[in-house]
Amino acid sequence: MANHSPLKWGIIGLGKIAHAFVKDLLLVEDVEISAVASRSIEKAKSFANEYNAPKAYGSYTELFQDSEVDVVYIATPHDSHANLSIEALNAGKHVLCEKPLAVNEQQVQAIIDAAKANGVFMMEAFWSRFNPTILAVLEDIKSGKIGEVNYVNVDFTFYREDDVNSRMLNMELAGGSLLDMGVYPCFLAYMTMGIPDEILASARFHETGADLQTSAIFKYKHGFANVMSGFVSQSDMCAKIYGTKGRILIPWIWHEAQGYYRIEGNKGMENDKTFFDLPTKGKGFTYEIEETKKCIQNGQLQSKLWSHQNSLDLIRITDRIRKQTGLKYPFE
Ligand SMILES: NC(=O)c1ccc[n+]([C@@H]2O[C@H](COP(=O)([O-])OP(=O)(O)OC[C@H]3O[C@@H](n4cnc5c(N)ncnc54)[C@H](OP(=O)(O)O)[C@@H]3O)[C@@H](O)[C@H]2O)c1
Repeated sequence: MANHSPLKWGIIGLGKIAHAFVKDLLLVEDVEISAVASRSIEKAKSFANEYNAPKAYGSYTELFQDSEVDVVYIATPHDSHANLSIEALNAGKHVLCEKPLAVNEQQVQAIIDAAKANGVFMMEAFWSRFNPTILAVLEDIKSGKIGEVNYVNVDFTFYREDDVNSRMLNMELAGGSLLDMGVYPCFLAYMTMGIPDEILASARFHETGADLQTSAIFKYKHGFANVMSGFVSQSDMCAKIYGTKGRILIPWIWHEAQGYYRIEGNKGMENDKTFFDLPTKGKGFTYEIEETKKCIQNGQLQSKLWSHQNSLDLIRITDRIRKQTGLKYPFE
C-alpha cells in the first residue's frame, strides 16, 4: 500500500512528446493526471478527453495557478522552457521540463535559482539517464568490465523534412539539430568520459540559421569522443564505447535502448551471447516519472542521478560547441 496520496501532474504544451509521455505516465502507479493546458482550449479539451484528465485549460498560467497540481511537465519548444519553468516554480509547483532544460547556461542557471528560491523539485527530463540499458552500461564501465574508456563514437541523426516554421528549423523556437538531438550524444560522452578538456566543433546550416548537422570531437587527457547530430541523413543511431579491455555497443536507437552488447577482449561480435536484453516499461519515460515521484515524496529538491549540476554541465558543453560553430539564437 502506498504511504502517499497520488502525485498530481499537470501537463503543458500538448504536442508530440506530451502524448508519448502521458501514455507512459498512465503506466506508473501512485500518480494521476490532474490537468492539461494548451494555448488552445479546444486542443486541451480533446487531449484531456483522450487521457481522462479531469481539467483542461486554455492557457499555461491557469494550470500553474491550479492548487491541486503538484508537478508540472513542460513539453513546449526549447525557447520557452526557461520562462515557463520559472513561472511554474514561482507558483510553487515542482517541475519536470523537457530537454534541453533551456537554450544556454544563463537560462539553465535562472531555472535552478528559481527552483532553489521556491524550495521545490526541478529536473530536466533527460529520460535516457534512467533507461535500464544506460544504467547497466554505466555500471559496467564503473566496475571496469571494459577497462579504461578512451574512445566513444555516438550520434543521433535521421533524415527529416521540416517546414521552415517548424520548431526544428525556426530560430525563434531555438531550432537546429544540436539542441534537439545533439544533446544525447553529448550526454553519453559526458557520462562515460566526463567534461571534455577541449572541443573541436563544426556545423552546416539551413538558410534559417538552424544547424542541419553538427559534428564535434571532444578531447580528454585519456582519449576522444566523436559526437554527431543532424537531420539530413539516415544513421544506425548506435552508441559505441571502447575501453582497454573491451567495448560496448548500444544498438539503434541507442538513447531509448532496449538492451546492449558487451564484447570483452579483442574479438568480433560472435553471437548474441554478448547481448543483454533490457526492454523498457512503456516507451521508457516511466523511469524519469518514477524518479520524479520518488524525489518529491522523499522531499528531495533534485535527483541524484540527473542533478542540477548535470544539467549545467551539459548546457555548458552545448554552449561551447555553439561558440565554435557560431550558432546563436535571435533572442540571445
Ligand atoms: N524526451 C524526448 O524523447 C523528446 C522527444 C521529442 C521532443 N522532446 C522535447 O520536447 C519539446 C517539445 O517537442 P515536441 O516534439 O513535442 O514538439 P511539438 O510536437 O511541436 O509540440 C510542442 C508543443 O508546445 C506548445 N507550444 C508552445 N509555444 C509554441 C510555439 N511558439 N510554437 C509551437 N508550439 C508551441 C504547443 O502546444 P499547445 O498548442 O498545446 O500549447 C505544441 O504542441 C522540445 O523541447 C523537445 O526537445 C523530447
